[in-house]
Amino acid sequence: MLRNKITLITLLLAISVLSAVVWQSCASKGMAGTGTESISDKYRPLFHFTPDSMWMNDPNGLVYLDGEYHLFYQYYPDSTVWGPMHWGHAISTDLVHWQHLPIALYPDSLGYIFSGSAVVDNDNTSGFGKKGTPAMVAIFTYHDVKAERAGKSVYQSQGIAYSTDKGRSWTKYPGNPVLKNPGQRDFRDPKVSWNKQTNKWILTLASGDHICFYSSPNLKEWTLESEFGKGVGAHGGVWECPDLFEMPVDRKTGEKKWVLLVSINPGGPNGGSATQYFVGSFDGHRFLNESKETRWVDYGKDNYAGVSYSNIPDSDGRHISIGWMSNWQYAQVVPTVKWRSAMTFPRKLSLMEDNSSYILKSEPVEEIQLLRERKTELKSQNIEGALESNPAMNASNFPMELFLEFELPASGAATDFGIQLGNQLDENIQLGYNRETKQFYIRRENSGISTFSKDFNGLHTSGTCDIKGTVKMHLLIDVASVELFANDGLVTMTEIFFPTEYYQTLGFYARNGKVALKSGVAYKLNSLKEK
Ligand code: FRU
Repeated sequence: MLRNKITLITLLLAISVLSAVVWQSCASKGMAGTGTESISDKYRPLFHFTPDSMWMNDPNGLVYLDGEYHLFYQYYPDSTVWGPMHWGHAISTDLVHWQHLPIALYPDSLGYIFSGSAVVDNDNTSGFGKKGTPAMVAIFTYHDVKAERAGKSVYQSQGIAYSTDKGRSWTKYPGNPVLKNPGQRDFRDPKVSWNKQTNKWILTLASGDHICFYSSPNLKEWTLESEFGKGVGAHGGVWECPDLFEMPVDRKTGEKKWVLLVSINPGGPNGGSATQYFVGSFDGHRFLNESKETRWVDYGKDNYAGVSYSNIPDSDGRHISIGWMSNWQYAQVVPTVKWRSAMTFPRKLSLMEDNSSYILKSEPVEEIQLLRERKTELKSQNIEGALESNPAMNASNFPMELFLEFELPASGAATDFGIQLGNQLDENIQLGYNRETKQFYIRRENSGISTFSKDFNGLHTSGTCDIKGTVKMHLLIDVASVELFANDGLVTMTEIFFPTEYYQTLGFYARNGKVALKSGVAYKLNSLKEK
């Protein structure tokens, strides 16, 4: 019986590897996740954004204009490790299929082009626009590597560049830098937004252990408004890549709050880099924090520097964010060959109130539906005990989106339950909920290749989350990553993995008791390919 199962799994594995190779060689050149791939490029995601080749880190300049979502990103075109930073560029009309465009911004005499944002200057406050054509303006950090190497303690400033052809070509502003460094070693990652209260631009900047807010009428001259964050929130590392936006708490009452995202490296909840958030108010000058404890956008180890799109039309109204799906602890040594790092699947952020505190929820954008290919309903079943006794799905359904609902019986309830993705080499990753610790977790202790870093393996846990009723898990499973959205995005965990052979099985487990799988729906997802 077991041997039959293994034979079947081996067959399915062979089919899945073959289809991945066939897909990769059929895919059109120039589309994200494609190129002249071979089996040595086997960790290339099937539905997540990756650079065609070489090194990528933070998403930059997320902006929507005329039907196109722009994704700029920290890019080093000459190596698969970090180096002189450029802004790579891709566009999408649906947040799912991405088209690579030429590099948007190159380093110049003022320095490397570090992280930043982009806005559409609809009122032509900068004067960069042409009649009827507003300029797209990129605001980024110049990192003066010569000054750094010369031992100077101050080498980061902010510059701008503009485009009047929808991001296809860029002109750097001759008056750069527009925001000089007041004497801070770390002074970077400007996120700019239009503030309706003051009719000014607001620039949110990370400055070592705090955030600085600047205002400007024209994107060229900036005035310091206030600072926030010294001694508040997590401070295990340097603050980076902030974002500030207002969003509804409850669409019915119309209540709105301001959310401040702050990435931090190191000092994340499970080690290395991660993104915390604060909820409060902002009057155009000053941020007042109302969060009582440190909260994280994502408790997995692999979602960093995530920021949100600007210029999303009011008719859409979503706050859409993308993060870098890696961790500075090991990003430069993961076992991919032609390229390094992928982005998270784009997510819709929302706010909910829970016991007089505000929680930022994340869910995949609805456009994921464009990838759904084949639906499988899992039969409801009682789960008790070992993984092998509960095989659920297999390779023919990968990559996959999965919706699961678990319910605990009144007596004899399991203390810990979840799902395991694995292969026949006994490499696996487990995603579950532990009732005793009241935490969701990802157990990445034996997931495959991990010798590249001592910080990769581990049991990674969420904050405490006392779920009394149904435990829901929404999962996006790609060949080298899993994104868990638990209880409608209340808890999010994102992690990458590098199994020696692709995972081919998915099973359930329950420890010290039972759990019922009330419902389960799986969609095999289409790979990225030309529309
Ligand atoms: C975050 C970060 C930013 C910086 C960029 C450099 O990952 O360190 O603070 O601008 O990466 O590539």
